[in-house]
Amino acid sequence: MKKPANSSGQSSKGGLLSSLSGLVPWVDLESVVRVGIFFVVGLVGALIVGWIIFPMVLYSEQPQPINFNHPLHLDPERVDGIEGETKSEKCLFCHPFREDGSFGGIPKTEKCTECHDDPESPLGESPSEKEFLTGFVAEEKEVPWLVYSKQPDCVYFSHIAHVKMGGLECSTCHGKHSETEKLPPYEKNRLTGYSRDIWGKRISAIYFSQEPYDRMKMDDCAACHTKKGREENNACFVCHK
Ligand code: HEC
Ligand code: HEC
Ligand code: HEC
Ligand code: HEC
Ligand code: HEC
Repeated sequence: MKKPANSSGQSSKGGLLSSLSGLVPWVDLESVVRVGIFFVVGLVGALIVGWIIFPMVLYSEQPQPINFNHPLHLDPERVDGIEGETKSEKCLFCHPFREDGSFGGIPKTEKCTECHDDPESPLGESPSEKEFLTGFVAEEKEVPWLVYSKQPDCVYFSHIAHVKMGGLECSTCHGKHSETEKLPPYEKNRLTGYSRDIWGKRISAIYFSQEPYDRMKMDDCAACHTKKGREENNACFVCHK
C-alpha cells in the first residue's frame, strides 16, 4: 500500500524513501542514500583539493618590479609619439624586429627615455612613473621585467616566422596583455620553474583549440601547426634545436 501524498507539510524525504522502499523492499534505500552522500562529499572534497588548493600551492606569485600600463601608452590622447598607423605597428615601436630578423623583446630603458628623459620632471602624476624615474631612469638601470610567456631553454621559438611569415596577430598567442592597465603578478610553477602562462590557468586543461590561447604547451604549438597546414614543423628537432 502506498502512503498518502505528502500534503500535510510533513518531512517529504522520509515519506518518499519509505514509499520507494515499498516498491523495492529488498534494497535498503536509507543506506544507499547515505553511501551516496559520502561519495558526493568525498568527490567534492577531492575536486576542491585538485582544482583549487593544489594549483594555489603549486604556483608562487611575484609582483612585477613596477607597473606598466599598455593601454595608456597606446592612447594617442594621453601619449603622443608612439609611431605607427595600425595597432600592430604601434606594438613594433617598442617591440621591434632587429636588422637580422631577431625579436627585440621587451624594450630597454633607453627606449623609454625617448620621452621620460628627465627624472626630475614626470610627464604625468602617477606614482608608478615616479618609481620608474627615480629607480631606473636616474640610475640608468634596466627594469628586471618578468616574462610571462618565457619558454624553457630547450624550446626554439621565432617571432619573425610567426608574425611576418605566418601573418599572426600578437593577440593570437598573448591574448589581451596589451589591454591590461595593471600588470598581473608573475606566477611560477614550484615544481618545473615554468611560468603559469605556459601550462595554463587550469592544470586539468586539455586543448580546446580556442583563440586567444591561455597557455602555450607543446600540444598547443603543435595543434596550431596542424590547423594551419604546417605539420612539417611538428618534428621534435624543429622546436628543440
Ligand atoms: C611604450 C612601449 C610599449 C608599447 C607601444 C607596447 N609595449 Fe608591450 N611591453 C612594454 C613593456 C615595458 C613590457 C614589460 C612589462 C609588461 O609585461 O607589460 C611589455 C610587455 C609586453 C608583453 C608581455 C610579454 C611577456 O610574456 O611577458 C606583451 C605580450 C606585449 N608587451 C605586447 C604588446 C602589444 C601586442 C603591443 C601593441 C598593441 C605592445 N606590447 C605595445 C612596452 C610596450
Ligand atoms: C612616446 C613617449 C613615451 C614613451 C616612449 C614611453 N612613455 Fe611612459 N608615459 C608617457 C606619457 C606622456 C605618460 C603620462 C601619461 C598620462 O599620465 O596621461 C607616461 C606614463 C608612464 C607611466 C605611468 C603610467 C601609469 O600607470 O599611470 C609609467 C610607469 C611609464 N610611462 C613607463 C614607461 C616605460 C617603462 C617606458 C618604456 C618601455 C615608457 N614609459 C615609454 C610617454 C611615453
Ligand atoms: C605564435 C604565437 C606568438 C605570436 C603570434 C606572438 N608571440 Fe610573443 N611570444 C610567444 C612565445 C612562445 C614567447 C616566449 C618565447 C621564448 O621564451 O623563447 C613570446 C615572447 C614575447 C615577449 C617576451 C620576449 C622576451 O623574452 O623578452 C614579448 C615582449 C612578446 N612576445 C611580444 C609579442 C608581440 C608584440 C607580438 C606581435 C608583434 C607577438 N609577441 C606575437 C608567442 C607569440
Ligand atoms: C596560432 C598558431 C601557432 C602557434 C600557437 C604556434 N605556431 Fe609555430 N608556426 C605557425 C605557423 C603558421 C608557422 C609557419 C610560418 C611560415 O613559415 O610561414 C609556424 C612555424 C614554426 C616554426 C618553423 C619556423 C622556424 O622558425 O624555423 C617553429 C620552430 C615553430 N613554429 C615553433 C613554435 C613553438 C615552439 C610554438 C609554441 C611555443 C609555436 N610554434 C606556436 C603557427 C603557430
Ligand atoms: C611545435 C613545437 C614542439 C614540437 C614539435 C615538440 N616540442 Fe617538446 N616542447 C615544446 C614546448 C613549447 C615545450 C615546453 C612546454 C611544455 O612542457 O609543454 C616542450 C617541452 C618538451 C620536453 C620537456 C622539457 C623540460 O625541460 O621540461 C621534452 C622532454 C620534449 N618537449 C620533448 C619533445 C620530443 C621528444 C618531441 C618529438 C616527439 C617534441 N618535444 C616535439 C615544443 C615542441
